[in-house]
Amino acid sequence: MEHLYSEISRLLAPLHHCTALTGAGISAESGIATFRSKGGLWETYDPAIYASIEFFRKDPSKYWTIRGDFIRNYDSYQPNAAHYALAELGSMGILQAVITQNIDGLHTKAGSTNVIEIHGSLRHIYCLSCGAKFTAPHVPEGLPPYCACGGVLKPGTVLFGEQLSQDVLLQARQASATCNAMLVIGTSAVVQPAASLPYLAQQNGAKIIEINIEKAFPDADYFLQAKAGIALPRIVEKIKKIRQ
Ligand code: OAD
Repeated sequence: MEHLYSEISRLLAPLHHCTALTGAGISAESGIATFRSKGGLWETYDPAIYASIEFFRKDPSKYWTIRGDFIRNYDSYQPNAAHYALAELGSMGILQAVITQNIDGLHTKAGSTNVIEIHGSLRHIYCLSCGAKFTAPHVPEGLPPYCACGGVLKPGTVLFGEQLSQDVLLQARQASATCNAMLVIGTSAVVQPAASLPYLAQQNGAKIIEINIEKAFPDADYFLQAKAGIALPRIVEKIKKIRQ
């Protein structure tokens, strides 16, 4: 394992165009539930009911049941060592972009600058009728909450059955196609189009480094079986020593 850390650090140390693709696992150590791991959200809640746009239109209270608490406590969720390590790789000039499927805003809170939130964000909430904008944690009471105009509020996240922003997807594809290494961290890599981005990177010559507590991306060049909050700070420390 030590040898693997050294090899990955030596690979990354001279690079300037790396991209990270992150999923729920990177926020697990911040106390945020994943979806498909044991005890994950989709074990208790059927995504077809709790996270689809079709069902949101029928009964928005369901989505607010699983997201309302996070939004109302938005300021209390904090980045962990993994988010900070990625931000540091950014300030060291190694990482150019963080593509995330997460909607928790923790990469930005940790200081990463080019964060591409392909599934949107819980920070921005808007009225489906008049378009009025709200910012977490400041949303009216209620399940679901309503705007003063009577319209229902919806977080700016992508639900199943909704299109991803084409602009954001283009940015994600560009950051994948132009990197020379991609860190794939804490994602089960099953939801498209995110799951195809490491292949896009690989086809363009990038090395894929997966960090996960269990292997999810079968074609990675390197697989570090570890918690992201342990693995990433170790890599950063090793790179610093190499660059001294
Ligand atoms: P998943 O819940 O599918 O996968 C989480 C991954 O993180 C698993 O592979 C775990 O093994 C890994 N993991 C858990 N704890 C970890 C830790 N401390 N360090 C490293 N890895 C860890 O989450 P996503 O892949 O993000 O979309 O799910 C993708 C999308 O499916 C989500 O964005 C969401 C969901 O349905 C929508 O709701 C549209």
